[in-house]
Amino acid sequence: MQSYYKTINCAMVNESHDSIKEKRIACEVATRYLKDGMSIGLGTGSTVNILLDVFDEMNLCFKKSTFVSTSDRTTEKALKMGLNIDQDFSGELDVSIDGADEIDPNGNLIKGGGGALTREKIVAYNSRNLIILADSSKFVETLGKFKLPVEIFRLFLSGTVKRLESLGCECKVRDGGQFITENGNPIVDCQFKSIKDPGTMEKTIKMIPGVVEVGLFVGMTNLSIEGRMEGAVIHRYKELNGL
Ligand code: 5RP
Repeated sequence: MQSYYKTINCAMVNESHDSIKEKRIACEVATRYLKDGMSIGLGTGSTVNILLDVFDEMNLCFKKSTFVSTSDRTTEKALKMGLNIDQDFSGELDVSIDGADEIDPNGNLIKGGGGALTREKIVAYNSRNLIILADSSKFVETLGKFKLPVEIFRLFLSGTVKRLESLGCECKVRDGGQFITENGNPIVDCQFKSIKDPGTMEKTIKMIPGVVEVGLFVGMTNLSIEGRMEGAVIHRYKELNGL
């Protein structure tokens, strides 16, 4: 199988041709939910990157739309395409579109592989709808095989890591502390293997002083679009609001 390399914050990730194709299929279907004039949150990662390419290729016009971005990478690309980015947008966005690292059958997510989880969560939380786009490998029965990213303060980092480990995971500070988010913080990747109750885990981790944000997105997704080589599968978890 042919493979491509993409750079995610200095980490070289080997991605197969099929997963790129599947992401593209999901992105093409996602455009059906978007209209010029909507306010749209843009996530971060290769899937969102492909989505922006698809906007271009399909000649979609978003002249009347306002976009809120979750990272410098996304902002840079969106601005180059002439999209209107307004990071001071207030009120509720019509929709946020993002990728994910894992998606369970209830639409709960692990996010943060690209390190933008805090902004992604804030933007998603301030949106009437969250649509997740992913290739088929991201859909799992139980979250936790992917290491759960947690953004933490540097202050008392080792104390925070110990508290995270006491929850039953193995922790690694990303790139030995060299990886710093756009908020100026390190990320700890927590290997749980299986997270049976994502809601309780999210709350428990959020309660640890020193934790900025955890990459568990529980009950937030309205719909996910799974790209498959033979077409797209739409998973609906909650009613869409006004889309
Ligand atoms: C970034 C994220 C991404 O959405 C997630 O890592 C999926 O990335 P990709 O679209 O490259 O597969 O959470 O913080």
